[in-house]
Order: sequence, then C-alpha cells, then structure tokens
Amino acid sequence: MRYIVFSGGKMERYIIAGKKRLEGKVKISGAKNSVLPLIAASVMNNGVTHIHNCPKIRDVLVMAEIVGRLGGKFFFSGDTLTLFTENIRSWILPEDLTGEIRASVFMTGALLSRFKAAETAKPGGCNIGSRPIDQHLKGFRALGAEVNIRHGAIMASASDLHGSHIFMDMVSVGATINVMMAASMARGNTTIENAAKEPHVVDVANFLNSMGANIKGAGTDVIRIKGVDTLHGTSYAVVPDMIEAGTYMFAAAATKGDVLVKNVIPKHLEATTAKLEEIGCDVEEFDDAIRVSASRRLGRTHVKTQPYPGYPTDMQPQIAVTLALANGTSIVTESIFENRFKYADELARMGACIKVEGNTAIIDGVEKFTGAEVSAPDLRAGAALVIAGLAAEGVTVVDDIVYILRGYEDFDGKLRGLGAEIERVNNAKDIRKFRLRA
Ligand code: UD1
Repeated sequence: MRYIVFSGGKMERYIIAGKKRLEGKVKISGAKNSVLPLIAASVMNNGVTHIHNCPKIRDVLVMAEIVGRLGGKFFFSGDTLTLFTENIRSWILPEDLTGEIRASVFMTGALLSRFKAAETAKPGGCNIGSRPIDQHLKGFRALGAEVNIRHGAIMASASDLHGSHIFMDMVSVGATINVMMAASMARGNTTIENAAKEPHVVDVANFLNSMGANIKGAGTDVIRIKGVDTLHGTSYAVVPDMIEAGTYMFAAAATKGDVLVKNVIPKHLEATTAKLEEIGCDVEEFDDAIRVSASRRLGRTHVKTQPYPGYPTDMQPQIAVTLALANGTSIVTESIFENRFKYADELARMGACIKVEGNTAIIDGVEKFTGAEVSAPDLRAGAALVIAGLAAEGVTVVDDIVYILRGYEDFDGKLRGLGAEIERVNNAKDIRKFRLRA
C-alpha cells in the first residue's frame, strides 16, 4: 500500500500552460543516483540504516520494496528512510521489481558481498541504449565469484571473495559502484583502475565507510579497498541531486527566468554552469545555492556528453531543449548512450528544428515553441519536454510521466512554487478544465 503513495500510472500526465517566466527559489532533494545504491548497500549490514535527505521518488520505493521482499523491513519518516536488514536471508531478487528498475543491478554486488551469492533477472530501467553489464561481471569474477547467465538471469556465487586488481575497460558508474560494494567485505586488498569519478561514486564510498568499510580514492580514477569482516548500521545523509538541480537551472534559462536553486554543491554543477554562462545566462554561485537568470534570447553552443567532470549525459536533453530556442546552430553529441535522442521527434512537434544523425543532434534555434501533446520517452527526456512546455506558447500535455516520477520529487509542485502553471492530471475531464482556465 505504501507503493501507491509515489506511484504514477501510465495514464498520468502533466498539463502545462507555457510562456511563464520561472522565478523564485527551489530546494533540491537527495540524489536519485546515490540513494539507489545506498539502499542496495544497506543489505550488506545486519543492523539498522537511516538514510536522510532521501528523495520521495518512485525508484526509491521500488528499491526499498526489493529490500522488503528479501526479508528486510523499512519505513519512511519525513525525508528519512530507515531500513532493517538483519533478517534478510534470501539473495534471490524478485523478478517483477528488478525488471522495473535499472539500479536493482546494485543489489547483486551488495548481496554477493554479504551472502557470497546473488541471483537476479536482467535489470530494467530507461531504454536509452543497450546498457551492458559486462564490466560489473568482470569485476565480480576478478574477486573470485563464479558468474553464470541462464535464461537471462544472472547468478553469482563464491566460496570466498578475495581482493583483486581490476582495470575497467570503460568508465562505468554502475560497475565502479557494484565492484566497490562486492570488494568491501572481500579478503585482502582491491584496486579499481579507470574508476568513475561521479559525486555519487564518492557518496557510496562514504556511505560504505560509515558502515565500517575501508575505501580510499573515490572521486579519483583509482579506488583502493581493504576488505573488512563485517559492516554495521549507519546514519547518513544523501548528497544533493546535481541532475535535478541542473534541470531547474535549464528550466530557468529556457523560460528567461530568475531562479535560486538551493541545497546544491556548486562544484558538482560546474559543467552545467559553464554551458549556461557560455550561452548568455547570468550564474551566481553561493556556498550551497546557485542563481540562474536570463533576460535576453540565449546563444548557441556545442556540447558533448562525457563522464564526470565532463558534461553529464543525464543533462543532455535539458540543454538540447534550451538550445532549440537559442539564436544560431548548436551541435549536441551524445557519447555515453546510443539511444538518447528519442525526444527529438516530440520536440519537433512543438516547433523545434532538430535533426539527429547517429550520436549527434544538429539544432537550429527557433524563436518559439508551440504547445502540443507529447510523450516522455524516458526520465530525463521527459523532464526536458516539461521544460519545453514551460517555455512554449499555449498548452502542452506530457504523457507517460511515470518515467519522470521515477526520478523527480514533486516536480510539478516545485515548478508551481516557481510560478509555473502545471498540473498532474489523470483524466480527460481535468485536462478540459485546465484548458478552459488557461
Ligand atoms: C549511471 C546512471 C545514469 C547515467 C549514467 C552515466 C545510475 C542509477 N544511473 O548509469 O543515470 O546516465 O550512469 O552517467 O547511477 N557500459 C558497458 N559495460 C558495463 C557498464 C557500462 O559497456 O558493464 C557502458 C554503457 O553502455 C555506457 C557507458 O558504459 O555506454 C557508461 O555507463 P554507466 O556509467 O555504467 O551507466 P549506468 O551506471 O548504467
């Protein structure tokens, strides 16, 4: 029953009356990409875990439900998620839930660490490319696990996990986190080279250390782990969500608004900030906030997604929408995932001039978008289409917002707080009522 609180059916939509300048303050929640592996890592201790600054998003619910199905317990109180993992006895992940969420893959490393065994169906999540997990499995094998794939299910087991020297073939956030978890209670020392440096990798390492692990170097490309025998419970606050923050920063830019984005770590947002300044926004940094304002038509730029500290792939659709309204021709290159321009056709229906060739989008800025009915193809592209709707003339309806609810806490509420006219609706009558008012 708790599930219903955050879930969104396929029928749910956002309806937006655009052309409102966003103004005011917005508070950023804890990072989705941190909290999901933290929930997975909680199963590695047999005590109590308190995760503070926990965002109330659908993916968090699904991960917590997975812990519940394994035999653990959890409850939410304000923005704290408390998990009891002492009674977990199973290492077989429920197929229906793992199929819903990509981050369920982190349970494999966590369960392997605690039980020396894990069994899971193929993880689900956003369809933004093929998303292989060969580097995760290579890491598990290097630590001494036997890994088999049968009928799509992953089965990993080990009589004993031991430290190893692992060189990642490519920079992978997921593989770095998963191997870090699996190595935390392995016998001896592990080194991960060519590790991902994302803030959430650092957050997971800090969290594991707060449970008694011994991990050094997270945030650089070499992570060293000394295996420990056991881990204990912890109380830990999740790092602010740099992608949620960046989304509001681009929403401010695209609507020529003036928004103070609070509860952020400005250092994590440098790639985003640099691009906003380059296209003509005013960006002011404070200790834990960033103000973005735009008063005139923005200019063009080129951008290529890269691992941190490069420009994030999770911010690619948001900048593309903003550039589609800017003066001149911009080129957006996606170098991480191969299927991340599915929003281009939707945006074109709102009047954007965007042509996709392979992993590149060529965007000729237009003066304005006009409202249309569009579908969210995945989480970040969905958020970007909402930004397009906020900037567009007339009414926009964004369908399939179940993707957006996976990763943005109270998206419509926070936008209304900035003066946007947006509602979450689930029937034609409410849409008609909104259109009459708009
Ligand atoms: C994580 C984020 C996601 C973000 C992405 C890149 C979470 C829950 N999700 O996804 O929001 O878009 O980082 O910043 O944190 N690859 C392989 N083999 C592997 C692993 C990855 O070939 O074993 C490739 C992928 O196909 C991709 C690239 O490496 O091209 C980076 O993927 P990765 O960093 O692993 O992304 P995720 O962890 O899935």
